[in-house]
Amino acid sequence: MSDVVLEVRDLYAQYGNGSRRVKAVDGVSFSLRRGGVLALVGESGCGKTTIALSILGLLPYPGRVVGGEVRFEGNDLLSLRGDELRRLRGREISMIFQDPVSGLNPVLSVGEQVEEIIAAHTRVSKQEARRVVEDALQRVGLAHPERLVKQYPYQLSGGMSQRVFIAIATVLNPKVVIADEPTSALDVTVQAGILNELERLRREQGVSILLITHDLGVVAQMADEVAVMYAGRIAEQGRTRDVLRRPRHPYTWSLLATLPRVDQDRRPLEAIQGSPPDLAELPDECAFLPRCRKAVSACRTQPSPPLAELAPGQRVACYNPVYHPDE
Ligand SMILES: Nc1ncnc2c1ncn2[C@@H]1O[C@H](COP(=O)(O)OP(=O)(O)O)[C@@H](O)[C@H]1O
Ligand SMILES: [Mg+2]
Repeated sequence: MSDVVLEVRDLYAQYGNGSRRVKAVDGVSFSLRRGGVLALVGESGCGKTTIALSILGLLPYPGRVVGGEVRFEGNDLLSLRGDELRRLRGREISMIFQDPVSGLNPVLSVGEQVEEIIAAHTRVSKQEARRVVEDALQRVGLAHPERLVKQYPYQLSGGMSQRVFIAIATVLNPKVVIADEPTSALDVTVQAGILNELERLRREQGVSILLITHDLGVVAQMADEVAVMYAGRIAEQGRTRDVLRRPRHPYTWSLLATLPRVDQDRRPLEAIQGSPPDLAELPDECAFLPRCRKAVSACRTQPSPPLAELAPGQRVACYNPVYHPDE
């Protein structure tokens, strides 16, 4: 069995056609290891959600994948038919969204929503399904599942809704969970509980997690590997401890420089000066140029270079990477 469960290779996705074409994902590659947590991190609008939706074949019109491969256990998901993909979603790969409340169906009870996914993918008796549902709710830290199954989404807090969502996403023991900003809409006090839940899924069920976030504190706490995105591309990727300790792309470096202590301060990435480019009007030169303090002449005259391995396992797309004198 391969060590890699999900591989994205040279993915391109865009919205629209003709005059206003948003190049949301512009040649992105990464591998998610079995039982690992890979974080995709970057400012709002850099293409993270588009990657998640592309993987699952859920990109809404006018979005479309225009190139690349998505391999799940070796099979290319982009070439699957709609019904084949539906069989896979929820069962093999599932997704947790940022806003749990709008993700739940307001007119179905909690029990009915969890049962729905079980019924869609398996053949079990009503009684057996009820038992699986209560188990799943209990597993994600929800007390009194027998009472909870009768409640409706409006009766739940944000944190409880997200736990129900996680129960739905994991009830069929998927191999991969894609969590898109799973705690961004929640109060700080409940964020930690949700992250612990994801960590437990990885530990106890061996789930591999693609964790999308704009919070470097979350990355530091949860991820083994990180890919830092900028304007639809990966600027830097590697083991989390290497990238956070020795960031080599000036973008990663400035993100970290805005955080006094990664483990204590949870400021959003937007603290960095300037703003990312419009993905509909990407420049020919490096997209980070206007915000970069280390730019050299190559950065102004040509597109940013492909990722190159600057240290073992750490790959950076930059003509003038940050140098660490302690090495
Ligand atoms: N439905 C859509 N139609 C047109 N452009 C979109 C749509 N969804 C996202 N985009 C654009 O694609 C880019 C990437 O968006 P997204 O993947 O949502 O980024 P992130 O998740 O990192 O915030 C942004 O420039 C965004 O404006
Ligand atoms: Mg997003």
